[in-house]
Amino acid sequence: MEVVRSSSVALPKPQTSVLALPPTPPATASHSRDVSSDSDSDTEREVRGSRNAPSPVKSTAYPLPPKSRPDTTVLPEDLKTPDRHVPRDSRLIRLTGIHPFNTEAPLSELYNEGFLTSKDLHFVRNHGHVPNVEDDEVLNWEFSIEGMVEQPIKLTLADLLKDFDQVTYPITLVCAGNRRKEQNVVRKTKGFSWGAAGLSTALWTGVVIGDLLKRAIPKRGARYVCFEGADKLPNGYYGTSVKLNWAMDPNRGILVAHKMNGETLHPDHGKPLRVVVPGQIGGRSVKWLKKITVTAAPSDNWYHIYDNRVLPTMVDPEMSANLPETWKDERYAIYDLNTNSATCYPEHGEKVSTAGAANSYAVRGYAYAGGGKRVTRVEITLNKGKTWLLANIAYPEDEYRQAPDDDTLYGGRLDVSWRESCFCWCFWHLDIPIDSLAQADDIMVRAMDESMMVQPRDMYWSVLGMLNNPWFRVVIHKEA
Ligand code: MTE
Repeated sequence: MEVVRSSSVALPKPQTSVLALPPTPPATASHSRDVSSDSDSDTEREVRGSRNAPSPVKSTAYPLPPKSRPDTTVLPEDLKTPDRHVPRDSRLIRLTGIHPFNTEAPLSELYNEGFLTSKDLHFVRNHGHVPNVEDDEVLNWEFSIEGMVEQPIKLTLADLLKDFDQVTYPITLVCAGNRRKEQNVVRKTKGFSWGAAGLSTALWTGVVIGDLLKRAIPKRGARYVCFEGADKLPNGYYGTSVKLNWAMDPNRGILVAHKMNGETLHPDHGKPLRVVVPGQIGGRSVKWLKKITVTAAPSDNWYHIYDNRVLPTMVDPEMSANLPETWKDERYAIYDLNTNSATCYPEHGEKVSTAGAANSYAVRGYAYAGGGKRVTRVEITLNKGKTWLLANIAYPEDEYRQAPDDDTLYGGRLDVSWRESCFCWCFWHLDIPIDSLAQADDIMVRAMDESMMVQPRDMYWSVLGMLNNPWFRVVIHKEA
């Protein structure tokens, strides 16, 4: 892995010679299926109010999840850990030893799965053990809504299914540590080394959190919503908070979810109930949800304060423990994701043939933005930023926007309320003439979002190593 260091990059002249090449088919086209004609699909698909009527002809084709491997089983290395009840895919790369389970897929395999990730290859970030919830306990799982509310409530998952409107949203979860490995190469942070596959996309089914909070009726003066999971860790249960006004805003799309890709949540992903916060760092999406507390102040949970922050760059690992006021400063807590992108092909270390029959190479990868914003531009440079090429972008998420208003998937409405927000990653690609690749040392990519926030050239190093997003660089290894 090689990283962009400010000292190693020649300062680009302010010059923008953008070469737009003709669009090529989106990277995920082969993963889109017309579900109306998908005879071997094992997914439910209902049209509200017309369950028994012949299915109307749909022009819609939206992506469905890749099938998970049926034979996934408990791996021998997990048998001696508290997670001995959790079946897992051996392709996932363990980043923190055997336990706790923190894993990403090989980047090319994640990309090859397409827009939606199977539960097998979805990244996992567990601070500790995975609570063991048997299938027959799922519906009785109880959680509470308490704190500054007029009507504190306790609900089971069965109540949630029975009494609330269900929705299904495609959402990309991104760990705030995605791409941290590059920071650790420059200077060790306190965090472990994620590559660029600390993100995944799934169809999440559940209840919009605003519907639940309206039932409990937040009191005047309430400003935050705290979440707590069932995983007891050395510093207490995992917990964090988001702002109450985000939770009440349907465009923010915050869910309390019980299904992922149409199935009961996998134990690693929160079985049986979790929060899913689109457009924000994954750390806010609390798994194994037990408690929702409405408060006047942000969460005082240890993991809210000492995790998921971008502290000022001068705070180093040695001094960091001595700065309680700096850690507690809510201005340094991170919520919305920042704009980011990575190249998946060529992969790091891939040999690119410059003397073969092919005239061009399809350079391709992913990009995302935060807070519901859309990625509006992806650019590639072959000369360290002197000139840029405009890449083509595919937004598979938009395919769901074509769905009829009353369409449901996995028992949840493909809701319209979020349709102006982008909750998912997108894919970019560009055919580069082999001659141009042969003359270049590296490929760098940067994305821009609709507010013109563009990935920076230089890295912002911080002690926890989070939200790393400088231009992503892959060295070209040529094979003549
Ligand atoms: N919730 C609980 N209860 N415990 C955890 O360790 N990790 C958080 C979040 N929710 C965590 C949690 C972090 S840091 C991330 S990035 C996401 O879960 C990862 O979700 P995933 O493992 O389903 O991909």
